[in-house]
Amino acid sequence: MSRAKRKIDHIEHALSTGQAKAHGFEDITFVHQSLPDLSTTQIDLRTTLGELSLSSPIFINAMTGGGGEATLKINEALAIVAKECGIAMAVGSQMAAIKDPNERPSFEIVRKVNPNGVIFANLGSEATVEDAKRAIDMIEANGLQIHLNVIQELVMPEGDRDFTDALKRIEQIVQQIEVPVIVKEVGFGMSKETASKLANIGVRIVDVGGFGGTNFARIENKRRSKMLTYFNDWGISTTASIVEVSQTVPFLYVIGSGGVRTALDAAKVLALGASAVGFAGYFLKLLLEEGIPSLIEEIENLHSDLSLIMSALGTKTIGKLQRVPLVIRGDTHHWLTERGFD
Ligand code: FNR
Repeated sequence: MSRAKRKIDHIEHALSTGQAKAHGFEDITFVHQSLPDLSTTQIDLRTTLGELSLSSPIFINAMTGGGGEATLKINEALAIVAKECGIAMAVGSQMAAIKDPNERPSFEIVRKVNPNGVIFANLGSEATVEDAKRAIDMIEANGLQIHLNVIQELVMPEGDRDFTDALKRIEQIVQQIEVPVIVKEVGFGMSKETASKLANIGVRIVDVGGFGGTNFARIENKRRSKMLTYFNDWGISTTASIVEVSQTVPFLYVIGSGGVRTALDAAKVLALGASAVGFAGYFLKLLLEEGIPSLIEEIENLHSDLSLIMSALGTKTIGKLQRVPLVIRGDTHHWLTERGFD
């Protein structure tokens, strides 16, 4: 199957496969505060990821590019939304465009539309330093995401089978490129062990890409005749993963993502210790079903609702929200207890 066809297949299946909803957000409850002592006008949504300053913690996570005209249109639309809402955006994997220059326009469009925005390049862990430099130059990226997608590769009949030396390649990229590197999962969650390995080689930003939203095992299983169904429920929930990573490696900047759909989900992601919140499948679905104005309106609503939630909690800044009292119950509590967190 051609790479372009696979990209379109992924988008169609991502929209139809549905959300697994095992992200764990229902296990998190904020502790109500009756004396917040602030005005809603004082809420400041700015955040930082290492040296990157963002005007909002909400961003559009990596999705597409490299599938011809169809993915160019999607990336153009996402870039318009990102610019209009003043949020950061990641492109999908650029490996196709590094191998074939004809695929470059579907990525370059993002920088053309949004010359001054914060844009992240994206490659898999098979990438070399040279690939990383090309991906960054292609869109004048402000950061580089490197995705880890072992389960997706295993479930894809044409996927990679050799996962050796990924950490070594990431280390070389971290050492030799100028922009911040974000290592991300794609919906299976990141463990404290993985985060520690990444921190030890100099990675400063990770995106947990937790289980409970877009599920690439289910998506890839839909495309093959012999299904590997045992991977369908494989992964660490978004809530458990954020706590694992942020409690174990305190100097890492954590991005929370995986099944995030509402401002309350986003507030919980931040309160568990993340500094930014990635939205992928939910934004794509809204864009394709309802168009650019609806997605812009939804992101504006997310910003105002997040400000109201922060007002109720008495937290003027994202830094304060990261330390707000909360109660963790259910599966997330059980998981964290089993894994040695109090
Ligand atoms: C993705 N995702 C993804 N991630 C990545 O690093 N590189 C990529 O090329 C892609 N491609 C891609 C295509 C489509 C159609 C979707 C829906 C997603 C994964 C994405 O960035 C994110 O990690 C997961 O989708 C989990 O977040 P949501 O969708 O549950 O919000």
